[in-house]
Amino acid sequence: MKILQEHPIDYIEIYTPMAKVLAYWHIQALGFKLLAVMNPESGSPGISSYVLRSHEITLVLTSTYPPYKSEYNEISSFIAQNYCGVKRIALRVPSVKEAFDYSISNGAFPIKFPTKTDDDSGYLEEAAIKLYDHSELVFIDRTAYEGVFKPGYKASLKAGKGGESLLKSFDHIAAEVRINESHYWTSYLSKALGTSLVQSIERGADNKTGMILSINQSADKKLTLVIAEPDGYEMKSKVQQNIDAFGPGIHHLAFSTDNLVETAKSLEKNNVDFVSFPPSYYELLRKNDDFKDIDIDELQRMNILCDKEDDTYLFQKFIKPISDRPFFIYEIVQRINGYNGFALKNINVLKKAEELEIMKAV
Ligand SMILES: [Fe+2]
Repeated sequence: MKILQEHPIDYIEIYTPMAKVLAYWHIQALGFKLLAVMNPESGSPGISSYVLRSHEITLVLTSTYPPYKSEYNEISSFIAQNYCGVKRIALRVPSVKEAFDYSISNGAFPIKFPTKTDDDSGYLEEAAIKLYDHSELVFIDRTAYEGVFKPGYKASLKAGKGGESLLKSFDHIAAEVRINESHYWTSYLSKALGTSLVQSIERGADNKTGMILSINQSADKKLTLVIAEPDGYEMKSKVQQNIDAFGPGIHHLAFSTDNLVETAKSLEKNNVDFVSFPPSYYELLRKNDDFKDIDIDELQRMNILCDKEDDTYLFQKFIKPISDRPFFIYEIVQRINGYNGFALKNINVLKKAEELEIMKAV
């Protein structure tokens, strides 16, 4: 089989304590709609799983609860170690067996061999390979399945109700890994899936960001895996601090929107909490002629970051951690005029702004 050319994300599954409450927050605060459930009420004791949709985004939030059933050990052990985070990223493929065979013959570690599950609505097939320490990449083919999500899930009586569908699609998935792991995973993904390293910040005297960064992308740009690694261990970077406190793994999911300012206003009305940035960051943007056409005051008011390449722009905004554990977060991005990059210049501006803030404080 040829290397996969298309990598549409079918769903991303998050394991979390109290999925019921987190699903409610996604619906009420972020505008998702509830699509399907698998829980005691739908006839599945021991598990609680909610399928949520916003335009092209399908998120699955899954919990288990005491007394724990052995069949759900992988959920409880993930939650014990990570509390709330991405367990699996599912990619839609024309043939699960071909995609899986290709990946393992090119070095991928198998987690789940091709398996069919069925119910009255037909069958679907899935297989999975390892990703980072605790996550999986799933290959899924649902063309022979007409049910709402997967066997075991029931359509929600509240299906279609819910929020305003503010978020449009997955933009990228970012992970933080240990020193020397990012090149390993870049090579693993390239061999197993056929992704390419499209941008990077490498170790070197010019790199003042404290990290090395690899952007891995599929040819159709539907799958982008950003991998950050500490530049070293002596000057503890933010990435190393996160790894020390929480371990390596998927740090954030980025969603796209067509209008970040309007989306952010709607989310603020829903009392969503956002990360704020130092005033020095916006002072640096004001001093830069490249940004003279941008309303920097509004960006500052809305805590939006901005990067520019030629006449294309990237707006970014970060929601504070979605669970009590301050690690896993959501990002929202707007790409204007086809901005294609990943704010690598902006990382330096932010770093400079942080240094200026420190100088102000001493
Ligand atoms: Fe990001």
